[in-house]
Amino acid sequence: MFAVISDVHSNLEALTTVLADIEERGIGTIYCLGDVVGYGPNPRECLDLIIEKTKWCVLGNHDYAVFYEPTNFNYGAEQASFWTRFSLEAEAEAAKRNRRWSFLGELPMRQSLNIKLGPDTSMIDFVHASPRKPINEYIFPDDVYTNPLKVRILFERVEHICFVGHTHLPGVFLDEPDFYMPDELDNVYPIVDGEKAIVNIGSVGQPRDKDNRASYVYVEGNEVHFVRLEYDFETTAKKIRAIEQLDSFQAERLRDGR
Ligand SMILES: [Fe+2]
Repeated sequence: MFAVISDVHSNLEALTTVLADIEERGIGTIYCLGDVVGYGPNPRECLDLIIEKTKWCVLGNHDYAVFYEPTNFNYGAEQASFWTRFSLEAEAEAAKRNRRWSFLGELPMRQSLNIKLGPDTSMIDFVHASPRKPINEYIFPDDVYTNPLKVRILFERVEHICFVGHTHLPGVFLDEPDFYMPDELDNVYPIVDGEKAIVNIGSVGQPRDKDNRASYVYVEGNEVHFVRLEYDFETTAKKIRAIEQLDSFQAERLRDGR
């Protein structure tokens, strides 16, 4: 049994809520798909928790932006990444500061597991964004209608299952191509032999599917379970509004889930 979380975006209230739920379910292994930082007010605390609680994490575009440079970011996202950098640099304790920077600088682009799920053994890949461009490519639900060729080509890079985040829109892509929202699957996707899937696990700290609850998945046997959890987004929003360099839109979107 393991949990997969993604796109925390420096949202401590959402992250602690999700970690508590994972612990309550008795799940000991957590993998993270990146974008630990960016947008939100608590990069230090979120990095410390991810370092402590997850088995590994892959590199997201916002982690890249903070450690290297923002690429193709809008003004608000760029400002947030500069502020995040400032906040990490301003840490007074050198050991903590260096630990967080080392973590960001050593994040791999991809992880893979060859794992027995129920009766079958599956190859599972984990990337932040897409199997073709692991850090930056968006795979949107609409792509199955507007750009089916793109989705088919992406599936050529998938051996069996690929977990992604990045769009903050949870759901399952099949190679037909097709897309299913978690609701349409009763929040469970069964991994079966011979059916490829790209599973978007949604975002812990900035959901964008008009549902403001934190999103993550856990895998039990061969089933991927989608979970949504209410958390105290008002507190996160208040912290964002108190930091001048963070756009207040980053606070409003938490309430609306956009
Ligand atoms: Fe993200």
